[in-house]
Amino acid sequence: MSNKSVCPWWMGYMLLIPFRKITHDPAKIVGPFLKPGMKAIDYGSAMGYFSIPMALMVGENGKVFCFDIQPKMFDKLMSRAKKANVESIIKPRLITGAESDYYGMEQVADFALLFAVAHEVPDQKALFVNLYRMMKPGAFLFFAEPAGHVSTSAFRRSITLAGKTGFTIATPVDEKKLIVVLQRT
Ligand SMILES: C[S@@+](CC[C@H](N)C(=O)[O-])C[C@H]1O[C@@H](n2cnc3c(N)ncnc32)[C@H](O)[C@@H]1O
Repeated sequence: MSNKSVCPWWMGYMLLIPFRKITHDPAKIVGPFLKPGMKAIDYGSAMGYFSIPMALMVGENGKVFCFDIQPKMFDKLMSRAKKANVESIIKPRLITGAESDYYGMEQVADFALLFAVAHEVPDQKALFVNLYRMMKPGAFLFFAEPAGHVSTSAFRRSITLAGKTGFTIATPVDEKKLIVVLQRT
């Protein structure tokens, strides 16, 4: 059994506060990686703080696949998607532990975001393997963990696991902010 604690669903509302844009501006974080028509993954999307801006960036010919383990996160995600008129672009995928969780996702994504999620996932090796399988060769993975909550050494261990899966480090590792861009080989 894992002792990793998952962000409770009601905390999803806190992640949507407008002030967050000061430190986590989606235009700066994911904007440089996304173009109209792209297919992107927001892994551990919660209520879609990043997913909705990502959907606006990839546009009507793109898709944003949102993975999460909590259905309540998706209820709010989809009501927000409807309001933003990006309901058809956002594709929620509930993680249940079944193989079908990733059905049809082989080498689909041009980009993936893993923001403040990995520390909640008991099997990080499987997490990076699944992301690797879903991403196209050469696609970027923006990987960030919450500084202050996750230690630098734990972040380094995650990067090492990602490296063993086949990701390479595309930008210098920011060990203060716990941010790195990885690239699928
Ligand atoms: C701290 S929140 C971050 C949400 C979002 N990435 C953001 O930055 O606004 C972590 C999210 O990861 C989800 N999560 C935790 N374990 C997961 C897993 N094994 N697979 C998919 N999602 C998971 C949680 O349900 C929660 O919505």
